[in-house]
Amino acid sequence: MNKMKFLLICLFTLLINRIAYTQTRTKEDFDNNWKFVLDSTNNYSAETVNDDSWRTLNLPHDWSIEGKFSKGNPATPGGGALPGGVGWYRKTFSIPASQKNKSFFIRFDGVYENSEVWINGKPLGMRPNGYITFQYELTPYLKYGNEKNVIAVKVDNSKQPNSRWYSGSGIYRNVWLISVDKLHVDQWGTFISTTNVSDNAATVNINTRIKNQYSADKSIVLNTSIYDASGKKITTSSANTDISHAEAVEDKSSPEIKQSFNIKNPNLWSTKNPYLYKSVSQVMLNGKLVDTYETNFGIRYFNFDKDEGFSLNGKPLKILGVCDHHDLGPLGAAINTRAIQRQLELLKGMGINGIRTSHNPPAPELLDLCDKMGFIVMDEAFDMWAKPKNPYDYHLHWKEWHKRDLEDQLLRDRNHPSVFMWSVGNEIPEQHGDAEKGDTSGRVIARELVAIVKSLDTTREIVTANDDVDSKNNIVLSGAFDLVGVNYHHQLWEKFHEIWPGKKMIVTESTSALETRGYYDLGPFDSIRRWPERWDKPFSNPNGGYTVSAYDNVSTPWGSTHEESVKALLKNKLVSGMYIWTGFDYIGEPTPYTWPARSSYFGIIDLAGFPKDVYYMYKSVFTTEPVLHIYPHWNWKQGDTVDVIAYYNNADEVELYLKNKSLGIRKKTGDDLHVKWTVPFAPGTLKAISRKNGKTVLTAEVKTAGAPAKIVLKADRNVISADGKDLSFITATIEDKDGTKAPRADNEIHFKISGTGFIAGVASGDPVNHESFKGSEHKALNGLALAILQSDGKKGSITLTASADGMQPATIVVNTK
Ligand code: GAL
Repeated sequence: MNKMKFLLICLFTLLINRIAYTQTRTKEDFDNNWKFVLDSTNNYSAETVNDDSWRTLNLPHDWSIEGKFSKGNPATPGGGALPGGVGWYRKTFSIPASQKNKSFFIRFDGVYENSEVWINGKPLGMRPNGYITFQYELTPYLKYGNEKNVIAVKVDNSKQPNSRWYSGSGIYRNVWLISVDKLHVDQWGTFISTTNVSDNAATVNINTRIKNQYSADKSIVLNTSIYDASGKKITTSSANTDISHAEAVEDKSSPEIKQSFNIKNPNLWSTKNPYLYKSVSQVMLNGKLVDTYETNFGIRYFNFDKDEGFSLNGKPLKILGVCDHHDLGPLGAAINTRAIQRQLELLKGMGINGIRTSHNPPAPELLDLCDKMGFIVMDEAFDMWAKPKNPYDYHLHWKEWHKRDLEDQLLRDRNHPSVFMWSVGNEIPEQHGDAEKGDTSGRVIARELVAIVKSLDTTREIVTANDDVDSKNNIVLSGAFDLVGVNYHHQLWEKFHEIWPGKKMIVTESTSALETRGYYDLGPFDSIRRWPERWDKPFSNPNGGYTVSAYDNVSTPWGSTHEESVKALLKNKLVSGMYIWTGFDYIGEPTPYTWPARSSYFGIIDLAGFPKDVYYMYKSVFTTEPVLHIYPHWNWKQGDTVDVIAYYNNADEVELYLKNKSLGIRKKTGDDLHVKWTVPFAPGTLKAISRKNGKTVLTAEVKTAGAPAKIVLKADRNVISADGKDLSFITATIEDKDGTKAPRADNEIHFKISGTGFIAGVASGDPVNHESFKGSEHKALNGLALAILQSDGKKGSITLTASADGMQPATIVVNTK
């Protein structure tokens, strides 16, 4: 064989083994060019409505975040103190005449809340749940060619409070237009599970549901292939079957076609190696390819053990997770993939390996990222069942909708390798049903929910997050759960088996410590405060400024400081892991305060995405990256006595110097995760050196700063995609003339932008600031503020200038490619 021929054959073999199929279905991003109006009186569902004067916008959109903070808004400060109301969205579009033989669907990833949808004036349906993904078929009502179609969506978030945190309002997740052949893989039509998994082998089971919308039964061939992460086809299988036409099937559901594959030496998915395979389902009709459907999946095995805790692929692993709400700080609830990715990157950076989607189904993009980045997800369904937490919350819809909502969540999410647990409820009031008075509804509902989950997925654990850690807890007494979720009560973790013998245990929620980034109350570090005294008692404003010290010595009375809970986690083997409340600050629930505070103090990272000091405690314990972090800042008064704290790792000791004079060497003792010096303040430089075997590992410094003099801008990424969605996060730091961060600067920063982008949000992390996140100025909090730039869809560059009275301004350029 000549060399050329050999090369051609190699190339051909390579090509047919790579993903090289034609696209037969389309999933079009349907986010752009919607019309929007806020109006609670008129009905705009009709086909012909003059919406010319309405605002034009691109989804995802959250109208609440554009509103004004007010004590009087019915959401209350607990819900973020922003307005709700009724909003209408309309989108006009056309479908080419050539597409007449296709089926069309519109999919909404999430609309908060009570949405109703019409196509060309015909109602498609309504959905109360603000966090659930739903889709409607458009085909019977569509017009083709030059004729226009119009989708109208009514969103009603007027009855409040309906949430214990900030919900956002509107079509705040992505919308898709899907077109397929009348013979196609059904919505969420594959279920992939893996069995007999070891390092050497795995069985991959793929069940596929095919829908036939033709008017006759069809004989089809289903070709299913598995590709590895490099795109190489590793195995394939064909199944011949007849599919009855949809009208002939009584419950309209299509039968499952079951295929199994043996994979040798699988590349196992883990938090450190989040390896993804892809299954490609091809539906053939009369020898012609009519549908191609892709599903990512992972191969892994895991176990929760009652004494030994969690293990992944045979190796013990403590789950160190965070609970997070869905808002993205200044972007509000409007989802943005880059913003979620940035959050996950920051969390990974401190050693977090788990996410709890508190307390609702997440945006699908979050799960895709968790699959790719390696997080262990607790995918949560509900914050309440039939009994309310707020007058207008989901309990009103419980009876009619819980089964459908839970099933849809399962069907959508059950192929994600990152999902390890289904949580069917958080701190559900039915825990406490009074059995003596005959109220054991919690047991009945718990059994029903577990049965729903098991009818769709038996490969994961099912939990509820219980704050009632008592053997009388009705939900646990249902007997439906093997794994018990405990919220808080860190002193009881070691006694867990005395309360619930034989059960496996995970801390579904812990900590609830409180901090304002960069703010410190002087006074002994070791004097721990529990704020507020009780959850239902008003709390004064002891600091005057609605601040909480960032020394990790304040927590809620039901919670613990970060260090207290980490110690309890590390000490107790039976604890499979814990999900810390919370990774990020979120809008709403400003415990321990209420108005004028409007966002939380719980985050390890503030609302702008700036880490609080305790971030580095986690990083020092849960990563191997070298850490030496000292705090607080060094701008105090002569006569102040300041506790200086260091978090460190990879070293034996830390020595602290003030103006080059040693203040002594400290080593962590017992189970402590920090070291401490008590230092009489004198201006100058505080310097720490960590050493291992006498050799310097790291040095860290804080300096006394002079008067704020200039702004310095730094982008997390200087080049972003020109796709209209990508973001660059710009940190504005206020410094003195010599370049030292001014740790107490709170100057009002004005941002000005030009070029191929716009300001998507501004923030500082201050829970008490009432300026709009959507404006172009914001007061810094303790030396920092943030501006988020978004591409407007064009290639070019964005120039951002930041200025403040009496200060040297700064400019930064971000390219959009
Ligand atoms: C928990 C609850 C969370 C949040 C937290 C604040 O009890 O599950 O949603 O409210 O308290 O500490």
